[in-house]
Amino acid sequence: LPLLRQLLMEMLHEEGEHDAAFAALNRASRADLYQQTDFFFFPPSARVRSLITAMGVSARRLAHPLWLLFFIEESSLALARDLAAIGEDHELGSVEPHWLAVHQEHTHDERRHTLIDRLVFESCYGRRGRVARSVDGWMFERILKAILYPRAHGAGVRVVEQLIRDYPELASLRPTMVREIVALGRNPEFLASLLSQRLAPRAWKLFHRCPELDTLAGWIPGYA
Ligand SMILES: [Fe+2]
Ligand SMILES: [Fe+2]
Repeated sequence: LPLLRQLLMEMLHEEGEHDAAFAALNRASRADLYQQTDFFFFPPSARVRSLITAMGVSARRLAHPLWLLFFIEESSLALARDLAAIGEDHELGSVEPHWLAVHQEHTHDERRHTLIDRLVFESCYGRRGRVARSVDGWMFERILKAILYPRAHGAGVRVVEQLIRDYPELASLRPTMVREIVALGRNPEFLASLLSQRLAPRAWKLFHRCPELDTLAGWIPGYA
């Protein structure tokens, strides 16, 4: 356990460096938007803030923060891989080199973090009681839905608003863009582009090992 604690402290330190690198990347890309804040498109809603607070309070007894961490960290590996695979022949062209470099650099730590996540998970998962297990399943589903479903005032719509500030000639498309972004929540292909066996194979396998997550089969494409 002391070793695990040390690994976690190092991981925490590295995440601080990652935050700084991504914030610097954002500022380098759009100094005008990121002058005052590191979270221009993602100011967490009151709902997400309360879920995160609940997660922090319960992290000593429950496993769902670890499912989430494992899923997010493994997904960051797929994101870097997919960005690198976008070539010149893509309709939007290849990814801007600084973005590519930061995402690539990020994977060096994240690959190791996913291994640590598993160790921490195994050290606490089996010790939870029946009540904790059902709370865990319930909490994880709430959090995943809050993260994955686009909302009328969420980050996607904020991107649309900024796009219209940058290109006012798009203003007439605003209602259509907002409607279509919100409708993505009902699009299985969209959900599968955020959580799938391909994107996070080890998290996918871990979730299936945990019976309290069986309800995910009701809305995550291909989960059952
Ligand atoms: Fe990170
Ligand atoms: Fe990490």
